[in-house]
Amino acid sequence: MSPSAGDPEYADAYLNEWLTAMGLGVEYVRAAGDTVFYLDENGREVPVLDLACGFGSLIFGHNNPEIVAAAKQILDAQIPVHAQLSHQPHANRVAAALNTAIRRELRTDDSYIAIFGNSGAEAIEICMKHAELERRARIAVLSAEIGENIAQARAALRAGSAKIAPGPHISAELPVAAALAAVQKWNAERLAKRPIYLTLEHAFHGKLIGSIQLTQNEQWRTPFVGLASAARFVPVDRPDALAQIVADEREFLLDLVLDGATVQVVERDFPIVAAFFVEPIRGGAGLIPVAPELAREIEKTCVALGCPLVTDEVQSGLGRAGALLASSRLGLTGDYITLAKSIGGGIAKNSVALIRRDRFRPEFEVIHSSTFAKDGFSGHIALKVLDMLEADGGAAYRKADELGARLIAELEAVRAEFPELITQVCGLGLMLAIEIADLSASRNERIREQAASGSFGFVLAGYLLREHRIRVLPAGPGWRFIRFEPSIHLADAEVGRIGAALRDLGAVLRDQDDRRLLPQ
Ligand code: F0G
Repeated sequence: MSPSAGDPEYADAYLNEWLTAMGLGVEYVRAAGDTVFYLDENGREVPVLDLACGFGSLIFGHNNPEIVAAAKQILDAQIPVHAQLSHQPHANRVAAALNTAIRRELRTDDSYIAIFGNSGAEAIEICMKHAELERRARIAVLSAEIGENIAQARAALRAGSAKIAPGPHISAELPVAAALAAVQKWNAERLAKRPIYLTLEHAFHGKLIGSIQLTQNEQWRTPFVGLASAARFVPVDRPDALAQIVADEREFLLDLVLDGATVQVVERDFPIVAAFFVEPIRGGAGLIPVAPELAREIEKTCVALGCPLVTDEVQSGLGRAGALLASSRLGLTGDYITLAKSIGGGIAKNSVALIRRDRFRPEFEVIHSSTFAKDGFSGHIALKVLDMLEADGGAAYRKADELGARLIAELEAVRAEFPELITQVCGLGLMLAIEIADLSASRNERIREQAASGSFGFVLAGYLLREHRIRVLPAGPGWRFIRFEPSIHLADAEVGRIGAALRDLGAVLRDQDDRRLLPQ
């Protein structure tokens, strides 16, 4: 349980107090499958159906017996867990297994090079760093070309054999030295600019210094905007928004091209956008899959800009969307792909950034590293997880899809009974959510206040835990979405139980029964 009265608190004092206020201040002492247990006042275990499932990291459930057995075997075999800067073939085996599965799903012959990390956010930052290396390489080529052209033009201008053609950027009246200086100044200013990353509105890509820039949540991001390159958040509901942002952000260098007796001042597109990060199922938006038209628009934009498309499959990958990659179901093919969460099998910390071979810069293998990344334990667990996902021709993916379809049917049935309260059912596979209507104009004062507080989803989660022994967590704007991310082993009977609990919650909200919803 929580620290006893009088115990000094060194961790989570504020968070625990808040969790308790939301009705979520519970200590779980054991976890198996889709169940977590806490102890009641008599010390007896109370089972709770866990639909938060480790923020979606437990595709095979808590302490999956096959994974736990593999872990014990790995430790008993005394494999080297930490053997940095030695040959580590387990890393190659994980990458090979991923490549086989990716090639099948994305129907491609391409291959992807793996860089391992410790967390989802680190995998994202690996991609940010690699994309910047790529961008700098492109800039180096462009700058060298412009440098040569300018040298030729300068010689002709100085010799008086050519004149600068009139144009919008450099006045033809300027003396040669001043014109050349103006071009150099223009270019130097662009070259000094930080890259821009594109991502979608309500994106969530992590909370480290780089990845937080790509996470739209204001409270988490804005204190740190000065620390790294910024993102442009692309609205998803306006077809022209992406093209408009790309046009607004466009930068160009000036080139001087000698053409007979004139020097043309030519705009050369400058690669200011380093990468486009896309969650195939946007968690921060309430688990909304990217629409096919948007997917096409994103791919076209990346090709036009020459920047990599990063599909962030940290949460949606590894079975959750009924496939190895959610992007494969949505018509998105990442140049870079991130995976984390479920690759740890619920017991290890691991993540991987996959970078398409033709874009990969080999020097990156030493530019990025971490003491804990690519360790033997998490590598062997990842192999086990991938084996389990790919077994029987991908039975686990089919199971996620079928179970997801049953859960969607149940959620839709509840929505049909409470259309004024549940405004949509969204998601894919076992990454699902319902949106709760905005009740901040409720006629019940206490419900109105809670709904306006911005944490109503947590209050609803507290209710489901207290009254139904069901653990959920909210998501999305205003935390008004309740997410459901069970393992593929969720029992059929539990689907009905979820429906019954939501019907009861619906009745409480429809009756505006604040005494049941908010007993304190
Ligand atoms: N990208 C996505 C799509 C995520 O969902 C998350 C984490 C991350 C990156 C960062 O991963 O936490 O391992 O550093 N999502 C959690 C969630 C926090 O609530 O779904 P991390």
